[in-house]
Amino acid sequence: MRLFLLLLPAVLCAQPVPRMDEPDNPLTGDPAAVEAGRKLFTASCGACHGATGEGGRGPNLRDGKLIRRSSDFQMFNTIRKGVPGSDMPGANLPDANIWQLVTFVRALGAPAAETIVPGEPSRGELVYAKSGCAGCHMISGRGGTLGPDLSNIGAARSYEYLRESVLKPGERISAGYQPVTVKLKDGRTLEGVARNYTNYSFQLMDKDGKLYLLNASDLADAKVDVASLMPADYGERLSKEEMTDLVAYLSKRTLRPVEARRRPERRRGAPR
Ligand code: HEC
Ligand code: HEC
Repeated sequence: MRLFLLLLPAVLCAQPVPRMDEPDNPLTGDPAAVEAGRKLFTASCGACHGATGEGGRGPNLRDGKLIRRSSDFQMFNTIRKGVPGSDMPGANLPDANIWQLVTFVRALGAPAAETIVPGEPSRGELVYAKSGCAGCHMISGRGGTLGPDLSNIGAARSYEYLRESVLKPGERISAGYQPVTVKLKDGRTLEGVARNYTNYSFQLMDKDGKLYLLNASDLADAKVDVASLMPADYGERLSKEEMTDLVAYLSKRTLRPVEARRRPERRRGAPR
């Protein structure tokens, strides 16, 4: 019995079980609350936790493990009262706003596929098709290979991460897709992404998808580029609705079906 109780938290770690006397977050999974929370967060919290929770003076709030440790109500209290003896101040806001913040912070850490997101995935698929994403990305075996395969992206990344990847590519270059420019000793210049590198050799995939295996001894010069090879202007080319639908489509890309996170069940009568 004791062992069972010890294991229980691990089994349930994806979703903290609220104590029976704790109120639920009335806004769990409400996309409008996530949006409202995002605005409040940018205004009141971003200076310390980073504009999208990536961390700074305050901890990274995207780290799923850190955030899952606490129930919604515990997080509510942390935000309302602050953390005494640290830089974390209490927020002087009405309850409804604090729940919006909790809902937003939860969405930061969870995979997109497990959260309820705004927009219409089927319309997003059309936006994906007309925007030329498939020229560089593979979904279910179809598409290009210059960028990462997106077939399971909804299970791998949070909604915020996906949104930012499309709006601001290059803010965070995906591991294994570092853009580089190299000059070869034979005079050619190649531009592309560096894949699979060791100290002595690496593969460079150029913008046309052609793969080169290069040895360090072939290089006259190599530089790491700061700009992503992914176009940075989708934010201007797509309307707000199109962007929302597109990110909804990406959020649903998973290799296995995933249930969106629901309001946590109250575990009445659970062994204590
Ligand atoms: C002046 C800087 C600052 C501001 C502003 C700030 N925080 Fe924090 N926050 C911190 C620090 C530092 C910690 C770590 C406290 C500790 O030592 O446990 C923290 C901790 C937290 C935690 C707990 C993380 C955990 O360990 O589970 C949450 C949640 C959080 N902040 C949310 C917010 C929200 C939401 C806002 C805006 C209403 C906000 N913070 C504003 C600095 C800040
Ligand atoms: C010209 C090639 C190109 C096009 C077109 C392109 N991308 Fe990308 N994309 C990349 C590359 C390269 C990366 C990885 C490097 C980086 O993060 O900048 C990337 C990264 C991403 C990521 C982050 C993946 C991760 O796991 O970190 C997402 C999501 C994404 N692209 C979605 C899209 C969508 C949606 C479109 C169409 C609206 C699109 N891309 C169009 C090349 C492209």
